[in-house]
Amino acid sequence: MSPFQLTRTLPEDATGAALRDDVLHGLTRTPKELPPKWFYDARGSELFEEITRLPEYYPTRAEREILIARAPAIAAATGARTLVELGSGSSEKTRHLLDALPQLHSYVPVDVSESALTGAAGALLEERPGLHIHALIADFTRGLVLPGTPGPRLVVFLGGTIGNLLPAERARFLGSVRTLLGPGDALLLGTDLVKSEEVLVRAYDDAAGVTAEFNRNVLRVLARELGAEVDPADFEHVARWDREREWIEMRLRARSALTVRIPELGLAVPFARGEEMRTEVSAKFRQEGVRKELAEAGLELSAWWTDTEGRFALSLATVIT
Ligand code: SAH
Ligand code: TRP
Repeated sequence: MSPFQLTRTLPEDATGAALRDDVLHGLTRTPKELPPKWFYDARGSELFEEITRLPEYYPTRAEREILIARAPAIAAATGARTLVELGSGSSEKTRHLLDALPQLHSYVPVDVSESALTGAAGALLEERPGLHIHALIADFTRGLVLPGTPGPRLVVFLGGTIGNLLPAERARFLGSVRTLLGPGDALLLGTDLVKSEEVLVRAYDDAAGVTAEFNRNVLRVLARELGAEVDPADFEHVARWDREREWIEMRLRARSALTVRIPELGLAVPFARGEEMRTEVSAKFRQEGVRKELAEAGLELSAWWTDTEGRFALSLATVIT
């Protein structure tokens, strides 16, 4: 078997069909809304990488610090031979884990972004020639089928991406992750933590405007994929802390009254001046909440590690037997 395989579980036109559905639903409801996975075309994936290097965006650095400090403990606790990574993106931070797992047989990065997957796998193949890389173009919210690689299996979900799912989606998602795990397998979960509003809002509304560009990129995806007649410059980036729900909410606000036409879908979507459309939430967590959500999915929190400043946490969880 070749050490690199790319499997597409999303049909080539998945963007087409699923995007059409999401846009039809999201733009005709009140308030308007678009699901976040459409941020990540090739340009979106590049913009996200740029976000991870911004001075205001602390989660990547905080999570990397924990990974560097705890990789040996994670390796010892799991003895993983297969590392599955959901929403792997550039796989940058994952290197710290891969380096700590000399017995690793297979790495299975899973992402909707084909460009991110091929870029990451290309770099890793050169560095770890013996490692089997089985990249999956797949939607991690839609029932994953994993390749039959040797166990124990460690499933990792980094970057705080779980916070981009709404609570009900999170419960469903964790339940499906649970079904991927057997005795001896583990989940490593990265969660951003509740902190001051000022620090949080700055992380999602940086001075250089990269996050604003990233947010508006979803409109470029609509224009390219569906022929939507929309000028991203007509929308302003908004990041707000929702104190009750403890999440950051990203929105696009119409700078003036305007209509977004999508002839292909027979849609003419009116926006009032100042009307806001939700594009993403990024939930922030506390240890007790994470423990509870894991337990509800049949998973037991077995380790909780934070960076020295207590901004971000990595949880290790195993199956409750
Ligand atoms: N793990 C990386 C990237 C986080 S950004 C890090 O920590 O830096 C979120 C990643 O998840 C992106 O690469 C995006 O393409 C991917 N993604 C978002 N929604 C997804 C979905 N529903 N299924 C699979 N991948 C998804
Ligand atoms: N998982 C990242 C997070 O919630 C994704 C992200 C970072 C993001 N910055 C963003 C999503 C800006 C939308 C807009 O931190």
